[in-house]
Amino acid sequence: MDVNQPIIYWILSEAVSDWDSLDNIGLLSATERSRFDSMRFEKRRREWFHGRQSAKNLLAGSSGGFRSVNPSDLSIENEPEGSPYVVHAGRRLDLSLSISHRDQLAFCGLILGRRGSIGVDIEKIEPRSPVFAEDFFTDSEVQLVEKNPVGTVDQTITLIWSAKEAVLKAMGKGLRLDTREIEISSFKDGAEGWGTFLVSSHFGDLTYFNGRWRIKGDYTLTLAVLEIEKNFAPNDILQLVQVIQASN
Ligand SMILES: CC(C)(COP(=O)(O)OP(=O)(O)OC[C@H]1O[C@@H](n2cnc3c(N)ncnc32)[C@H](O)[C@@H]1OP(=O)(O)O)[C@@H](O)C(=O)NCCC(=O)NCCS
Repeated sequence: MDVNQPIIYWILSEAVSDWDSLDNIGLLSATERSRFDSMRFEKRRREWFHGRQSAKNLLAGSSGGFRSVNPSDLSIENEPEGSPYVVHAGRRLDLSLSISHRDQLAFCGLILGRRGSIGVDIEKIEPRSPVFAEDFFTDSEVQLVEKNPVGTVDQTITLIWSAKEAVLKAMGKGLRLDTREIEISSFKDGAEGWGTFLVSSHFGDLTYFNGRWRIKGDYTLTLAVLEIEKNFAPNDILQLVQVIQASN
């Protein structure tokens, strides 16, 4: 496993419409299977399962040496606060994984090693009430919405919201934190379809994030990397490698 390169692996996969849990269940570890069985709602089961399936495809397609590992030998579990991690042969792996699901889509990101922590988010671009931005955004972000840098107002609001979720996931916190504690700014276009955004926070001078975004149809994809090792991956040298779904 080459952990010297600041590579972010990502996958966007669509669930098959005739999904049948019994055909796919063999992908799950015993721990995952018991979690799956405890889920009462079919929608949640499906999205949860699709997230696991996509994340395991992502691991297999990375340079981490997982291609020959049986998917059921990889167990994707969650911290008490929700952040996912991977267990193999009873050992927690040195990597950072993030999962997001929306509708039929699962979007996952992966960093091998422990030099950065990743958060990803997929959101549907849809109209939100005018008070949404006032409630969840900082004053500067509300002004950013008025400047509307990325197309429609709905796109801009969705992107800012999604970027915040990605950042809060990279921190391992999620929406337990006040979304106004972090500030998103400066959406710019970038290479290979991934634009960049900036993140500032009040969580200490050493905290440094990279932000990337793209629009895919009716959805926004955002990805945030929290540097654990200083200067792990400045935005300009961060490599994003797409893993194409091997199978459903
Ligand atoms: C993390 C969170 C922002 C994601 O919200 P979402 O947009 O509805 O859902 P997404 O599909 O994008 O993401 C869900 C995935 O995020 C990951 N996740 C959950 N909590 C996380 C956390 N604290 N840090 C990092 N990742 C987290 C999980 O992998 C989860 O998927 P899984 O359960 O299948 O493993 C939100 O669920 C959250 O903050 N949860 C914790 C606090 C909470 O439960 N609050 C109640 C609602 S305010």
